[in-house]
Amino acid sequence: MSNIVDINASLLNGRGRAALARCAALGVIEGGLDRQGPRPFPFRQSIRPSGLLVGFRCNEMLGSSPMRMRAAYGLARRANSGRHRTRTTSMDDQTAITSDSIAVDTASPNWGPDAPRGGKTVMGRILKEKATVPLFLAQTLIKSLRDVGYNHTTSALCEHVDNAIEHGATEVRVYFRQSSGSGDKKQTDVAVYDNGHGMSPTVLKVAMAFGGSMSYGNRHGIARFGMGMKTAALSMSPVLEVYSWQEREAIYSMTLDVDAIGKERANLVEMPDPSFLTALPSEIVTLFTKLMSYPTGRAEQDLAVDGESSVAELLGSHGTVVLMPDCDRLHYAKAKTLVDHAVKEMSRVYRRYIAKGLKLYVNNRLVEAFDPTYSMSNARHVRVLEDLGVSTKQSTLIHKYDVDVLLSEGSTETAPITVRIYRLPIEEWALLSRKTRRNDLHVFDGLTVSILRNDREVFAGPMTNLTTRHSVTNWYRIQIEFSGLLDEAFGIAANKQGVRLKNFVIEALKEKIGDDISTINDEIKRYQSQENAARAAGRVSTSETKAGETDRFQQNLMPDLSPEEEAQLDANLRGLVVNLRRDGETEEQAFDRVKRSRYIIVLKHDPYWPFYDVQHKFGRVIMTINTAHPFFEKLYDPLSKMSALPVDADTEEVTGLQEVNEGPIVALELLLLSLARTQSRLANADEDAARMLDNMRREWSETYRVQMN
Ligand SMILES: Nc1ncnc2c1ncn2[C@@H]1O[C@H](COP(=O)(O)OP(=O)(O)OP(=O)(O)O)[C@@H](O)[C@H]1O
Ligand SMILES: [Mg+2]
Repeated sequence: MSNIVDINASLLNGRGRAALARCAALGVIEGGLDRQGPRPFPFRQSIRPSGLLVGFRCNEMLGSSPMRMRAAYGLARRANSGRHRTRTTSMDDQTAITSDSIAVDTASPNWGPDAPRGGKTVMGRILKEKATVPLFLAQTLIKSLRDVGYNHTTSALCEHVDNAIEHGATEVRVYFRQSSGSGDKKQTDVAVYDNGHGMSPTVLKVAMAFGGSMSYGNRHGIARFGMGMKTAALSMSPVLEVYSWQEREAIYSMTLDVDAIGKERANLVEMPDPSFLTALPSEIVTLFTKLMSYPTGRAEQDLAVDGESSVAELLGSHGTVVLMPDCDRLHYAKAKTLVDHAVKEMSRVYRRYIAKGLKLYVNNRLVEAFDPTYSMSNARHVRVLEDLGVSTKQSTLIHKYDVDVLLSEGSTETAPITVRIYRLPIEEWALLSRKTRRNDLHVFDGLTVSILRNDREVFAGPMTNLTTRHSVTNWYRIQIEFSGLLDEAFGIAANKQGVRLKNFVIEALKEKIGDDISTINDEIKRYQSQENAARAAGRVSTSETKAGETDRFQQNLMPDLSPEEEAQLDANLRGLVVNLRRDGETEEQAFDRVKRSRYIIVLKHDPYWPFYDVQHKFGRVIMTINTAHPFFEKLYDPLSKMSALPVDADTEEVTGLQEVNEGPIVALELLLLSLARTQSRLANADEDAARMLDNMRREWSETYRVQMN
């Protein structure tokens, strides 16, 4: 980069001229405004006729040598100190100095107390000395990059696991080491070890730079942006330490320290050479040799080595350790919560790699693959179900599609994605205990859609624009796989957490799978309503029970059964049950219900019929409600749905039985059952009354129908 120093040459004294000449002789300043190579400073010729300005162009060396720049800067300053009329002075690092604007900016930055000190110095030079603004303000930028925005400590940590996998690791160990710090504060160090290829000292140096990557822009692996290791680490701790080796006992290490960089007074922050070590520092060695504070049970932790003497063997001839000491920004304070969350997420995100043999540990606990589609044959659900002796241990692939998706809106190029729809064995798994379904199989975690990019999961959760919100979505799963070529279409951000599917992708998916999703939705819904009906089978409802229990407190008692009727009761009730059986009820269940209850509500559909009918047979008061009448559609059914027992969205099980049984549907049913009782009793005693009541029923029903329609 070229730097120009402008000096009012006419104001220089002899000392100043001599200094500039030395500066030029050093080869760091190119005299004159032309672009010829360094040469003795041609003083007079460089004076502009109008403004007496002389420009000096630093040669390229400056950009890479702060020492020389500083020397040149000092010389230039001194050169101008003769008459104190330097207009622009800084030759600092990447800061170019313009010759055109002269006014000093009086604006002052309104920076917060945590702003980096060095950043303030650089800013001061820009405002007061008109230093050209560099593209990157190192001190402030690195501090801001701490807030690049990871959803969670685990998603940041995944960047390191990604790097490990990308570079050939077969074993990765994640550590949350918590110890009591001074006072009450607990210090948490986070570290990731892997046995991958490691980095050469030069690669390590590049890797520590923002944008530094060995696979920048490569769409076929996990890495792409040259940012992950740095941004992820800094999102947790102000310090990142990396140790990497490609030979036994030849470890290179580098540190990135946000606070130290914030104190640099120059904007150029150069990477120093990595330090060479023959062994890892003891604070890292103890990660391998000592138990973590969590998990608490010794048996739950599978230490990397038996003792310190085996550490060299573990490290072998290649590997990497990334350490984020004394983290100040973690999602949870407790090691337990951090570990549990990391295990849960990583077991899913890296399921394909784990299934292929990757050994991934979090605080010495081996992570088992968890497959939200339940289609893999070597993931946790298979083991759980095997232990329980369940015969169907995997979901069934019911559809597979290859869809070509545009790389971007308006593009002519496409790349293929694969979509698979799996159906869970609801018939069998719905019979498992609530605990197994919820805590062991995680069926109700809402992970209907899982999206994988180059085999690594980038999203798992509900996607309501592809599916529905209904609880049926627990019982089928959609898996979408795409390659990095479609990153723009899937909205993959540099931190690779989550997706933001472009509309044209959603439309393409809907067109391909929409109908099949509706079909499976309907199929599972149908199954669930059959199951619900079966659950209600044989049950006497709350209103039927209440009407029966209160019978003996009524002023007018219902006639008793005659001895003959009593003797024939079972046979008669069996006949009656034929018409009283509910959906999903066996004949035996229906008989048992009708035998136990003196009040019975039945639904029947008949467009030509009044809204209710009453029969009094074998000591049973039977109220038939016509589902074809507006009474049912507009009052009874909505009210019964309103009062329906709430279903736990997680477990699909009915809850809150007690409260709901007192709800308005019971009051309405009792209104009808009391009507039925009154009508039965009066009609029983008197034929005229029976006729009159029947007329009333028909006329009332028709009047109500007209009013309601
Ligand atoms: N565990 C590791 N083993 C070997 N090399 C690594 C490891 N971690 C990082 N590197 C090297 O450091 C470089 C920078 O890593 P970083 O995560 O910052 O960027 P990236 O992986 O290239 O891209 P992305 O931002 O998409 O993650 C990598 O390209 C890789 O060469
Ligand atoms: Mg990376």
